[in-house]
Amino acid sequence: MSTRESLRVELGPRSYEIIVGNGVIGEAGALIAPVIRQPRAVIVTDETVARLHLPRLEASLDAAAIAHQSIVLPPGEATKDFVHFAKLCEDILALGIERGTPLIALGGGVVGDLAGFAAATLLRGLDYVQVPTTLLAQVDSSVGGKTAIDSAHGKNLVGAFHQPVLVLADIDTLATLPRRELLAGYAEVVKYGLIRDRGFYDWLEEAGPALIAGDGAARRRAVRESCAAKAAVVAVDERETGERQLLNFGHTFGHALEAETGFGDALLHGEAVALGMRLAFDLSARLGLCPPESAARVRRHFNSVGLPVTLDEVANRRGFDPDALLLHMAKDKKVRDGRIALILARDIGAAYVSREVPEATLRAFLAAEAGTAKALASPSPGG
Ligand SMILES: NC(=O)c1ccc[n+]([C@@H]2O[C@H](COP(=O)([O-])OP(=O)(O)OC[C@H]3O[C@@H](n4cnc5c(N)ncnc54)[C@H](O)[C@@H]3O)[C@@H](O)[C@H]2O)c1
Repeated sequence: MSTRESLRVELGPRSYEIIVGNGVIGEAGALIAPVIRQPRAVIVTDETVARLHLPRLEASLDAAAIAHQSIVLPPGEATKDFVHFAKLCEDILALGIERGTPLIALGGGVVGDLAGFAAATLLRGLDYVQVPTTLLAQVDSSVGGKTAIDSAHGKNLVGAFHQPVLVLADIDTLATLPRRELLAGYAEVVKYGLIRDRGFYDWLEEAGPALIAGDGAARRRAVRESCAAKAAVVAVDERETGERQLLNFGHTFGHALEAETGFGDALLHGEAVALGMRLAFDLSARLGLCPPESAARVRRHFNSVGLPVTLDEVANRRGFDPDALLLHMAKDKKVRDGRIALILARDIGAAYVSREVPEATLRAFLAAEAGTAKALASPSPGG
């Protein structure tokens, strides 16, 4: 049965609907038909998602008389590179597409970012539909039009803002998602509460464990409220010059940790964001900006659902070099005039952008955190 709710990203002529619910892929053809310019589409997906969810999408396109061809990529972040991007573009062009041929990105953030960037550039811009199948993609990457691939110099450094024409978030796809991936996406859900919605965070403290265990109503509400929060921010700051920066809460620390762990399985993006948010709260508390009890609450919640909270829970307990982390943070896209932009918190639901933290303070903080990791990583005397 389909239960669906519709939200709108208001961006003038680039406005679009986000449809959230169960069974949405089964109705994708009918939902997509009104927003596309020809009864034909190219689906981009990955091998894992193709196996689990592509047949339902294909059947619904068939039912709506939308012709379709599929391109199936290897799963994983490594696919978001220049080599795969070039091949994807050539494969799509080989299908003889026209300007009016839409792409459909069926998958997680990797597929969405890659197909979105292909849509932004092929024939100087194709329409595309996001059909996100991970929690992270449903609550974050499919909405807002950021598309990108990775470079040898870092993640997401080559990309474009290109809004989709429709987002279809089918909650049922989360049933096949590995728990670790689900948890990583959950970190981005919590982010919306932590940055500007204390009531939502309070609810997540209650409902989070059930949501993770599979409660459909809780999943729907979490995806709907996260999309609404992101849509509101994107509507006022599409190109991330102001308010949208808050969505990077936890990401400056997180990216540095991901860079140090090689952007792979050692630390998933959402896990890095969870750690980054915990670090941001503790730094805020240490600087006297935020009540220590609020920072402790965040740590307790992450602990209760199984998200990492200390640096030694990742990277095989090998510890981190604070200077290396600082270097990554300084290379981050959010650096302006040499000052690192950190999103700090005055409390739960009250995040803000700060360029005021002196580098020495940040180094000492990271050294203390990394020191904990090293102390725990070294063998105990006589052990
Ligand atoms: N554009 C943005 O605004 C934005 C925001 C956040 C993250 N991102 C990007 O998103 C990417 C991470 O996205 P992700 O976490 O979705 O990773 P992902 O796309 O790699 O998906 C994670 C894994 O889950 C598998 N998978 C996907 N859906 C599944 C399902 N329903 N059942 C079973 N397995 C499934 C995939 O095959 C993959 O192996 C990163 O590249 C990150 O940079 C982009």
